[in-house]
Amino acid sequence: MDSMNTLRIQSLFSGSHVGQTLTLQGWVRTFRANRFIAINDGSTLNNLQCVVDFEQTDENLLKRITTGAAVQIEGTLVESRGKGQQYEVQVSHIEILGDSDPDQYPIQPKKHSFEFLRENAHLRVRTSTFSAVMRVRSALSFAVHEYFRKEGFYHVHTPIITGSDAEGAGEMFRVSTLDPKKAPLTDAGEADFTQDFFGKETNLTVSGQLEAETYAMGLGKVYTFGPTFRAENSNTTRHLAEFWMIEPEVAFCNLDQNMDLAEDFIKYVLRYVLDHCQDDLVFLDQRLANEEKTKPQIERRPMGLLEQMHFIVDNQFVRLSYTEAIDILRNSKPNKKKKFKFPVDQWGVDLQSEHERYLVEKHFSSPVILFDYPANIKAFYMRLNEDGKTVRAMDVLFPGIGEMVGGAQREERLDILQKRMDEMDIDEKELDWYLDLRRFGTAPHAGFGLGFERLVQFATGMSNIRDVIPYPRTPQNASF
Ligand code: 4AD
Ligand code: MG
Repeated sequence: MDSMNTLRIQSLFSGSHVGQTLTLQGWVRTFRANRFIAINDGSTLNNLQCVVDFEQTDENLLKRITTGAAVQIEGTLVESRGKGQQYEVQVSHIEILGDSDPDQYPIQPKKHSFEFLRENAHLRVRTSTFSAVMRVRSALSFAVHEYFRKEGFYHVHTPIITGSDAEGAGEMFRVSTLDPKKAPLTDAGEADFTQDFFGKETNLTVSGQLEAETYAMGLGKVYTFGPTFRAENSNTTRHLAEFWMIEPEVAFCNLDQNMDLAEDFIKYVLRYVLDHCQDDLVFLDQRLANEEKTKPQIERRPMGLLEQMHFIVDNQFVRLSYTEAIDILRNSKPNKKKKFKFPVDQWGVDLQSEHERYLVEKHFSSPVILFDYPANIKAFYMRLNEDGKTVRAMDVLFPGIGEMVGGAQREERLDILQKRMDEMDIDEKELDWYLDLRRFGTAPHAGFGLGFERLVQFATGMSNIRDVIPYPRTPQNASF
């Protein structure tokens, strides 16, 4: 539906409206020679050139056609004789819907730094780069739902406020209505959360997994796709304090099948944007190439945007155990030459993004899924292997990013799960409901979590994760 009979600019590039009189609404990107207005309405990367007859137009009106102004234009769509566009609109009437003072409007028709645009995050979507990123983001989100629907999964809305710490990592944001100045105290002098809103300590969720597991054990195949919060003090280009996570969970599923699902899912959603977001991807590919040219050789990325998309979509993912990976890393050139910031010296160390990227970009030149990690660097719910020291974990590793997905086959055996929770000091009482799944009709099951912003980062070639979410939340920053 085109609201109020106005057309979206994207629909005009098919050519079928040539000769018609149209009404269009959008924002002025540029106005040059008192004649050519480039307007954009967000429907496409491409601006539409609208040509005004300045001799027939009131001078005061012409002055109000400024970058950022909202306008309504009536005119006729014609084939353009000028270079740079196929069609243009010959304006018969223009109305300024909202003025934009050119001396005040922060988004000028020139290159702005991403740092500057982050400070103006409420306006940055009016730039070509951010509108392209947000269209790709939206398409990816749609593809996620389409994939799971087609595969027979049910979408479950898991809670955002929770009383349990799914990852057992303790990096949670507290949710409380207690007055910080006069909170009731326990005898030990600590805040008394029994008097808080929920009568207990509650936090924002770090993962919907545990609740998704309960639904998988009734609906069979489910996924949750919601906001996730981590109070980790990581000021990196790949971490947000608030991000969106996609978490499928499948009953009667083992780790191999879980890896199949992750690979198939990732390829599907990336192929979807390759097929549906061509203009935006070509633009972002070029943007990235220009950015790379400004960097010293050693800091440049291994691949361009379209190249890295095809690297994932067209390659079979290598599957490799943690133990094999450690052998490769230990004997690798950068390790021997002490080029890694974190040297790999022994079995059991956690892998850093530099190691993950080495495996993907240098050693295999292929996406990699690592599995069977040491139990003590992974969460409590992962299924213990027969060796007693590794668990059925899996991480999917991408070029440029490192970890894209973390998942596992879950521990379905009650006694072993209880033992691990005990070892890791996890309160069984809090998670009694989770243990019930193992008491009543337990079954092998598996799932994973994919950080949506990391995927958007990958699919748009943006260097900083803060530039792929509308309003990034990071340490010391929650503006807007
Ligand atoms: O590996 P993680 O911590 O796994 C879980 O939370 C599991 N409960 C998922 C599951 O099995 N259902 O996080 C999953 C993914 C990571 O691989 C990464 O892509 C992303 O979430 N992620 C973040 N993305 C942005 N900012 C952060 N601070 C992130 N932390 C994790
Ligand atoms: Mg992880």
